[in-house]
Order: sequence, then C-alpha cells, then structure tokens
Amino acid sequence: MIPRLDATPDQIASAARRVMARCDELARVTSTPGRIERVYLSPEHARVNRLAAEWMREVGMTTRQDAAGNQVGRLGPPDAPALLLGSHLDTVPDAGRYDGIAGVLMALEVVRLLRAPGPDGTWLSPFPFALEVVAFSDEEGTRFGKALLGSSAVAGSWSDEWWSLTDAEGTTVREAFLDFGLDPGRIDEAARRPSDLVGYLEAHIEQGPELDRRGESLAVVSSIASARRFQLLVEGEARHAGGTPYDMRRDALLGASEAALAVETICRAEHHIIGTVGQLEAFPGAVNIVPGEARFSLDLRGEFDGERDRVWNAIARELDAIMGRRGLRWSAREVHSAPAVFCAPLLQEVIGAGIASTAPVAPPVTLFSPAGHDGMAIGAITDVGMLFLRNPDGISHHPDEAVSTDDVGLGIRALAEAVLHLAAEPT
Ligand code: GLV
Ligand code: MN
Ligand code: MN
Repeated sequence: MIPRLDATPDQIASAARRVMARCDELARVTSTPGRIERVYLSPEHARVNRLAAEWMREVGMTTRQDAAGNQVGRLGPPDAPALLLGSHLDTVPDAGRYDGIAGVLMALEVVRLLRAPGPDGTWLSPFPFALEVVAFSDEEGTRFGKALLGSSAVAGSWSDEWWSLTDAEGTTVREAFLDFGLDPGRIDEAARRPSDLVGYLEAHIEQGPELDRRGESLAVVSSIASARRFQLLVEGEARHAGGTPYDMRRDALLGASEAALAVETICRAEHHIIGTVGQLEAFPGAVNIVPGEARFSLDLRGEFDGERDRVWNAIARELDAIMGRRGLRWSAREVHSAPAVFCAPLLQEVIGAGIASTAPVAPPVTLFSPAGHDGMAIGAITDVGMLFLRNPDGISHHPDEAVSTDDVGLGIRALAEAVLHLAAEPT
C-alpha cells in the first residue's frame, strides 16, 4: 500500500510561497548589480551555500559542503543508502531566478513534508533510505567554460585536465579551489559510491514552451539530451577594407556567418536536434580590416547520440564546402561531449504517479529535455528521474524566466508523492 502524502492544501501553498520567496532572496546574491550572475567558487557561491545550509538545518538535516563545493543536507542514519534530491545554485550570466534554484528549494520542501518526528525534537527519514538534498555548485559552466563540474565530482568523473581550465581573468580551477578554501588534493572525497545511493530525483523548470503550449503544469522527463560543444576557427586573410576587391577577399567572418546559417538549416530539417552558435568573434576586429580570422562556438544537442553525431558530420561536410568556396581554412576543437542520459523507467513511473496524484484524469505528459542537467553526470552512478515544471513562454537563461507559485505547489506535491511511491517499491 502506498501511503498518500499527508499534507493539506495550505501546507503545500505555503511551501510553494516559501520556494518563490527564497528564489527572490537567492537572486539578490549576485556578482553583478541589477543582474543575476553567480558562478562557481565565487564569494556569491559561498553565500548561497551558507543560506542553503541554514535552510537544510531548518528542516532537520545535517549539512556539509563537499570537496567540490556542493552543499549537501542529509536526514537519516549515517549508514543508510540515500535518495538524492536536488539541482544547482549557479547561474548563467544575466540569468533568471528559477533555473536550478527552484529545484533545490522544492527538494527542501519535500523533505519538510515527508520527515518524521524523532526523539528530542529531531527529525528522521520515514523510509529505509536517507533523504539528501544536494545543491550542485556548477551545472552551467559559466566561469570555466566546462559544465557539470560539481555533479561530475560527485559522480567520481572529475578529470585532472580540468585543474588548468581558466576563467576570464586567467584564474585556474586549482587556484579558485584554494581561494574558496577547498583542497584540490581532496577532490576524490566528493565522489559517491553507487552502492550508497538509491537514485537521484530533480525538479526543474522546462526551459522550453512545450508544457505552456499544452496547458499542462508538469511533465515526466524521459531523457536528457546528448550534447557536443565545439570551438571553431576560420582562417582567411586580413587586408585593407577599402582597397581589397571582393574577388581577392578571404573574409573569415563571412565564412563563419555562412557556417552559422548552415547549422540552422541542417538542424531545422531534423527532429529533436538543436544547434546554436552562441559566440562569434572576428579578428583583428577593426572597422577597416577584412577579418582574417573568426572564432565561433557550436552547441549541438540531440535526443540520441547517433543522430547528433550524424548531424555533426553533415555540418562538417557543409563547412568544407563553404570554406572551400571562400578560400578559407577551418578547424574545430571539441570542448564538451556528453552522451544522452535516459531516465530510469522506475523513476519515470513514480514521477508519473506523483503527477497523476495532482491531476487524476489525464495521463502525465512525457518530455525529452534538450537542456542539460546535473543528472547527465549523476546518471553514471545512480538512476536519474526528473520532473519538469511549466515555464511560461518557454523563456530561460534570461531574466524574464518564470514559473507560477501554483505550479511550484503542484510540483512539490508530485515530487513528494514520487518519493512515497518509490519507498513503497520492493528493493
Ligand atoms: C544548461 O542549462 C544547458 O543546457 O546548457
Ligand atoms: Mn541553465
Ligand atoms: Mn539548470
């Protein structure tokens, strides 16, 4: 028998209001006045970890900051395996206030609803597993250009090459660890053993318009996109902007521009493949010089690794053709590659049951996530399940990013019910 969540509509509504108010509070912890930006191993990162730790202790959890700067709260006996709930607290530049953050705060409310009273005013996990809330420290990769640093450390897949990555000021990851008060030599201590984990559940805003278009609040996530990221270089010849006739120009910026348009054309013709050129720079970068060099980024995502790779090959062939016509050379350096992560069938089932408990008639919507999430790294060590919340107008990575208090309430109920359904499963 699956116990129903013992929570009144008022309790859920006040939990949702607390999540919204705390999203506003965390939005004020920013390095850039008037905008939200909070990057890995920054003073703002330390401040939000302290706030999260305070809120974790408020629901009865013991807390620690792990060796990669992830903030962790735990409720349950030290030797029990743990169900991880959470998301991330770092942001992109000029961010919204819900991407990642809402998921961490909702996880805390789920713990508040599910915890059982223990002796002497303490709180216990009512399950044969502990409940942990993890606030991952670096999902976005804003500072060092490499995403999922926090969750990769937890997954035990930290790479020594990452120590020498630098931020815009030239500070390395190693230096930033030391400045933050973390010991690079202890990074392995952040890693969790699969046998110590029951699974990972994350609530996140959708970051796209599907739920809004369908008039639905919540969705089960089926998988997280596979991704590849490249830095591309186009080399031509810098010459005088006035004196060089068109038939003599080898304009690298025009080659890169045509490449960006080709990425759009090729990806638009595909299903569930998205390519984005988000950075483009011309060199030497003067008004009166034909650009001799251009650099641009490519972010390519797909539901399946094979499809994504086939499309990359098609893009590469098109770049050969474009650059050949224009007398340019091009090369690509792959800076990120992550396989698709499929949410575990059991966790999809319990999240579906959680959603059904909030809207008993319709079968829950299932969506694939083109956006990246910490589950991409955590999937290497435990089962992953995700719940999406409607994101009005589908706008994210932008200050207008939104979610409604009502949907947060439904999401909290669905996530708590999902945990109850999971606890009722035979181990
Ligand atoms: C992170 O939000 C990503 O999908 O790039
Ligand atoms: Mn994001
Ligand atoms: Mn996110």
